[in-house]
Order: sequence, then C-alpha cells, then structure tokens
Amino acid sequence: MAAKIISGNEVSQQMKDEMKLEVAELKAKGLQPCLAVILVGEDPASKVYVSNKKKACEYIGIRSLETRLPAETTTEELLKVVNGYNNDPSVHGILCQLPLPKHIPETKILRAIVPEKDVDCFHPFNVGLISIGEVRFLPCTPAGCLELIKRGGFETSGKDVAILGRSNIVGRPLSNMLDQRTMNATVFMCHTKTKNLKEKCAGADIVIAAMGQPEFVKADMVKEGAVVIDVGINRVDAPGTEKGWKLVGDVAFDEVKEKAAAITPVPGGVGPMTIAMLMKNTLTAAREAAGLK
Ligand code: GUN
Repeated sequence: MAAKIISGNEVSQQMKDEMKLEVAELKAKGLQPCLAVILVGEDPASKVYVSNKKKACEYIGIRSLETRLPAETTTEELLKVVNGYNNDPSVHGILCQLPLPKHIPETKILRAIVPEKDVDCFHPFNVGLISIGEVRFLPCTPAGCLELIKRGGFETSGKDVAILGRSNIVGRPLSNMLDQRTMNATVFMCHTKTKNLKEKCAGADIVIAAMGQPEFVKADMVKEGAVVIDVGINRVDAPGTEKGWKLVGDVAFDEVKEKAAAITPVPGGVGPMTIAMLMKNTLTAAREAAGLK
C-alpha cells in the first residue's frame, strides 16, 4: 500500500493558525512578541529564507525587526548589532541568518546571542539543556521532524529510530531529543563510518534522513510500514525540464513511498516546519520574558 504523505505545508499552516490565536491572547495581556533577524551579505537563498520568516511573523502577528548589513561588515560591528538586540527588552528572539561571510566566526556570533533570546537553539547552553531534558527552546528543524511524526499520527515511544547524519543542526539534537523520557525512542545514530548501515536502517520503525546525499535511502533500506522523514534538500540536474534542475531529498521518494507507512515530501515536508518552529520558540521566549506560563 502506498504511504501516507505527511505534508509539512499543511501541518505548518495548522500551527501558524494556532499561533495566530495565541498571539491575539498575548496581545490582549499587553505582550507583543518580537523577533529580530540579522542578515549579513547578499546570499540569495538567505534572502529568501529571511523574507519567508518575516512573512510568517506578519501572518501570526509577531512584530519583526530586520537588520541588513553589507558583506564587508566586521565581527565587531555585527557583535554590536547583536548586543543592541540583547539589551532591548522589547525583542524576545534574535536570529542571525547563516551562512555568515567567511571572515566572521559563526560560533562567536551565535554564542553572543543571550540564551534567553536564542530562538534558533544554537547556543551551547540551550543545546546542553536539551541533553539533560530541561527544554526551553527546541532546535527548529529537529522539532519540525518530531512534530510531523506526531501530527502525522505516529508514536515514538518504544520505537527504533535510525537517524542518518550527525550534524549539530539536525542529527545530533534529534538524537538527544528522541531518547528523552518524553519521547522514549531508541536511537541508532548512523554516519559515514557506520557498519551495516543498510541493515540498521532497514530494521528501524522510523528513519530520519539528514545527511545531504540525494536519494540515498532506497526502498531496500526501509522496513515495510516504516515512517520516513526526509530532511534533505538537494539540487540535482533534470535535463529536459524548464529550469534544468530539480529539488530532491535524501530519500528516493517514488520507490520508498510504496513501502513506507508514511513519508514526507521534498519540497513541502520538513522545510516549512522549520519556520513554524522558529515562530513557536519566539512565542516561548516572549512568554518567559513576561513571566507567563
Ligand atoms: N540558514 C539556514 N537555515 C538556518 C537556520 O535554521 N537558522 C539560521 N540562523 N540560519 C540558517
């Protein structure tokens, strides 16, 4: 039987509608949530991401501030902007869009954002909180994956999960979240040196592919009835099409969907969830700053 397609477009829209109501309630209590976004340089993809984040803020009713800086900006100049937002009590979340120009050390900037406003959940303090099960913010892409599983109608408790890819942004935090007592999954963290990766993957109830290899996960690597979450976004040649390229995930969608119980598409799967989770973290930051539950 063909898999259920879990649509990130639909789930994220549902979440944004829920958050719109939540913001209306917060505003009635005199609280206006606010997200500040910093964009350095002219990276076209980053401009699109930032504009999408701004649109989501507008839709939900979150106030959004934006600082655009030229590619030649120095680390000190950028730190000054970050500190300005750190010290502004009307700002609840700060996001510095990555990648930064090569001369600016990313870790230095990301660690300069105060943990209370770190809505990306990249600061080591917030990463550490997750690993001890004291969650304030959830990293946006991993949280988006878990929300798709949950709202898709699937459980993680007692399940074996194979995570492919150990990045700090996706694989590692996912592993940290899934084996907490709230999620109760058993995690197989797979990477380039993993022995018998195919078998490990094929034994899992849930497969989360996040290693950036176009269509790496084939049908013979997936158990009948598994739930498959595809985090990959890869541009591959598509001769004969108008653009000459297309986007594919890390999963061979057409063949895996014939075997899985559920699968997320690319595009329109995990991608739109990342922004919804960023909005959610911004509301969490605003509530915490105001001392609201
Ligand atoms: N660039 C691509 N994805 C992200 C993200 O989730 N957060 C930030 N800050 N930059 C990004």
